[in-house]
Amino acid sequence: MRMRTGVVTVVILFMMAFASGCSKADAPKPAATPGAPAVSAAAEGKTLFEQKCSVCHDIGRATARQETKEHWTEIVKAMQGKKADWISDADGAKIVEFLASEHGRK
Ligand code: HEC
Repeated sequence: MRMRTGVVTVVILFMMAFASGCSKADAPKPAATPGAPAVSAAAEGKTLFEQKCSVCHDIGRATARQETKEHWTEIVKAMQGKKADWISDADGAKIVEFLASEHGRK
């Protein structure tokens, strides 16, 4: 009796592992998961910031300071105006997200 129960348990565990393995493979990739858009915007913003904001001056010009989100918005707008079509509004918004979260001031 004990033996049999053990075998049944092992078989059940095996099937469960197999089933969960299958369902994992079938599950769609959690690529565009809604829920953390602010985090990904800031992460994207970091890359954009390093690319876009380093061409005229060192990025230290920005990372050395902490500003409110409102002030970062103003600064990024001013920088957009310095080079036509270099930083789009969408890129600028992500850069502001990054700066406000990593170099922000309350
Ligand atoms: C086309 C060239 C150019 C690009 C691109 C650029 N900057 Fe600047 N930035 C300047 C110049 C020139 C100055 C200094 C003159 C001034 O303050 O107007 C400056 C000054 C600054 C300052 C100091 C401003 C102050 O008020 O003391 C900050 C902060 C700054 N930039 C951040 C950024 C950020 C963030 C980005 C990317 C979104 C960026 N810059 C992209 C040219 C640029």
